[in-house]
Amino acid sequence: MIPAPPAFYAEPDYIGSHKFVGREAQLQELDDWAKAADPTNLLLYEAIGGNGKSMLTWEWATNHATTVRSDWAGRFWYSFYERGAVMADFCRRALAYMTGRPMEELEKKKTPELADDLLARLHERPWLLILDGLERVLVAYHRIDAAEVPDEEANAPTDKILNRNPCDAIREEDSDLLRRLAAAAPSKILVSSRLIPRAFLNPSSQAIPGAKRITLPGLRPADAELLFRSCGIIGDSEKIQEYLSQNCDNHPLIIGVLAGLITNYLPDRGNFDTWVADTSSKGGAYLDLAKLDLIQRRNHILRAAFEALSDKSRELLSTLALISSSVDYETLSAFNPHMPPEPERVEKPEHPEKCKDWESMGHWQKVGAKEKYKADQYRRRKFEQSFLIWEKSASTPEALEKLSTTVRDIELRGLIQYDSYLRRYHLHPVVRGVTVGFMKTEETNKYGLRVVDHFSSVPHPPYEKAKNLEDVASRLHVIKILLKLERYRASLKSQY
Ligand SMILES: Nc1ncnc2c1ncn2[C@@H]1O[C@H](COP(=O)(O)OP(=O)(O)O)[C@@H](O)[C@H]1O
Ligand SMILES: [Mg+2]
Repeated sequence: MIPAPPAFYAEPDYIGSHKFVGREAQLQELDDWAKAADPTNLLLYEAIGGNGKSMLTWEWATNHATTVRSDWAGRFWYSFYERGAVMADFCRRALAYMTGRPMEELEKKKTPELADDLLARLHERPWLLILDGLERVLVAYHRIDAAEVPDEEANAPTDKILNRNPCDAIREEDSDLLRRLAAAAPSKILVSSRLIPRAFLNPSSQAIPGAKRITLPGLRPADAELLFRSCGIIGDSEKIQEYLSQNCDNHPLIIGVLAGLITNYLPDRGNFDTWVADTSSKGGAYLDLAKLDLIQRRNHILRAAFEALSDKSRELLSTLALISSSVDYETLSAFNPHMPPEPERVEKPEHPEKCKDWESMGHWQKVGAKEKYKADQYRRRKFEQSFLIWEKSASTPEALEKLSTTVRDIELRGLIQYDSYLRRYHLHPVVRGVTVGFMKTEETNKYGLRVVDHFSSVPHPPYEKAKNLEDVASRLHVIKILLKLERYRASLKSQY
């Protein structure tokens, strides 16, 4: 249900894993920008993944925006992280919210028409729109595995396929719309992105009139310490601040992960001072970060956190990283790593008539091929049956109890978040990307096939009846992962 304006509408809600701290300067900056007197009506926060862009903009939009201004026509938050978020969907939802028109009616319209309609309304009254994670509409992220593109790859100078500028929007019409949003006074548009869309810059890389760009720094040292301590860490204040500033530029996601490492540092749990002085492979002194840039330091710390996981936790985290959206408890328990070994896999046989040498076969050869096909089909059916029984063993009480311990472990380490309102488990896009990057090919294959089997067995409406991406979500998961496993042929077949 889309709420009626001026009530706040979020698509979907943002899930943060800590209580909001600090950012006084930015909140002040946002307060000033939101006022009618400020000449810019689009503000872009830019920073690498995990630096706190979403958390800051969510905090301001939900807890400050209405204090600083009481005349908002409405406030709409749209996140480009999940599912197949695209500009056209953003426009439709914005218009559905602003006008009360049903989504079905708007589904028939294309972006340029939607954009005209949207702009007319934005010029009429002061709306607040927040575009979270806008990098997803840019060339750099336009890949089937967009949910896991690491920062370092997205920053590479050209996109591999088309040699286009990575900061261009994939569709020209999206660039037009972005440019027009920068002139949508009296409305205010707040954007966060890992990369700056070129549409917001003039040829000399300055922000175009109406737009303002700000690079979001890490937290202030004292706030970084506060966040660290809120995760249960104790230690010398000065040393903590120095360490966090020097080793991770007070990057909030990494602070959470470091805290997770120290909480699980068995010689002295949660004690920063002991951990940082320990030169063994379990200690902090071992993480030699001095020569690396911020993205490398971030990935280095995430790798240490990944390697510190138990086999079961690693298995679960890796499997979840392959699914490109947040998951509910049912899906999570289908991937319970505390299960007996999986039955031996039998692939779906190919019908002999589809085989390329079918025509050239003699009569008896054809008979033989058909017999073999029947036997293979039988073995495949047997496998499917034992697979179902095996999947059910994931939900015995003992298995479920072990699962909750494992989930709790990953959560405490800052690698997964639980949204108690939506009741979904969520991996930060950075953790997802880095985890997939760390996985060995055998692991990607093994866990990937499991995800494929699971989502292939989930019932879904026929394609003709599908209205939106959600209706085909389970099929999309299957196709995305098969592509990742470089099973291009299998991926094509699974669509029919
Ligand atoms: N101001 C903050 N206070 C507390 N935690 C924060 C803050 N900013 C970020 N975090 C933590 O860091 C994580 C990453 O932040 P997020 O806003 O999702 O990053 P980004 O949008 O830049 O990728 C969040 O899940 C949250 O736990
Ligand atoms: Mg974000």
